[in-house]
Amino acid sequence: MLELSPPLVLLSGPTGFGEYLKLVDPKYVGGVILKTVTLHPKKGNPTPRMADGDFYVINRIGLENPGIHAFIRQIPQLSIPTIASLGGDSFEEYLEVSRIFKEVSERFCGVEYNFSCPNVKEGGLSIVEDTNRWKNLLNEIRTILPNTFLIAKVGIEGVFVEKAAKIVVDSGWNGITLVNTVRGLHFERGHMILGGLSGPLLKPIALRAVYEVRKMYPDLFIIASGGVYSVKDAEEFLNVGANVVGVGSALFKNPEIVEEIGRYLLEVKG
Ligand SMILES: Cc1cc2nc3c(=O)[nH]c(=O)nc-3n(C[C@H](O)[C@H](O)[C@H](O)COP(=O)(O)O)c2cc1C
Repeated sequence: MLELSPPLVLLSGPTGFGEYLKLVDPKYVGGVILKTVTLHPKKGNPTPRMADGDFYVINRIGLENPGIHAFIRQIPQLSIPTIASLGGDSFEEYLEVSRIFKEVSERFCGVEYNFSCPNVKEGGLSIVEDTNRWKNLLNEIRTILPNTFLIAKVGIEGVFVEKAAKIVVDSGWNGITLVNTVRGLHFERGHMILGGLSGPLLKPIALRAVYEVRKMYPDLFIIASGGVYSVKDAEEFLNVGANVVGVGSALFKNPEIVEEIGRYLLEVKG
């Protein structure tokens, strides 16, 4: 099992490749999940890429990243446990990126696979739709990385989280991140933004997902993702069974919240 102290991580995306850690005392953060990396570099989507709504943030970044080869040449040296995040546009790409990642896998305490990005045309969400093929993919990745702590990040679209969790466990993976953003549509000065919803609006959905999966699997490692903006939010996720609580879009709104939550968790949870 992965022990992170405090049980608080910075989620993939908002924290980039660890830049945010320069602004926070690392003793209050248990770990960081780097931005998703794909086989080839991605420029991401044209602007606008992010907007604020009432109780949510919507983004359509489109997985901008330098690609796995450039990433490996410049792996960030961070002072806290670091989890890589990998993604792909097809089954073959997930396998290829895993094979390349293998040579550096020991520099990370785990790897999270993004199976749920709503902002790319292929891969992303659609990868989990065909559950038989997805199960095969998880098995093949497990074979490529037999000793790595593998975490699947899923959303609530494409497949029920309960079913996704069963596939993750049956494939010998170690953990699941619940949940990724949910597809949304936002009008910004008359222009439509089609993107993924984060923030407080996502919290009840993520809480329910963690609750249901924890009931099924008492030993599965669960990272909570969705609307953690306060100490109370973090507590609620731990109460329904998350091992670790993730902070994502709150970093844009109130960067101090990470230290506040981290300090509380260290004092109360040890
Ligand atoms: C600007 C932005 C970029 C994101 N990029 C990624 C990403 O590269 N990989 C990923 O797995 N999730 C990504 N996410 C999703 C977050 O990791 C997180 O799962 C989601 O925002 C829900 O958490 P929150 O409500 O605390 O923000 C991104 C979210 C935002 C807001």
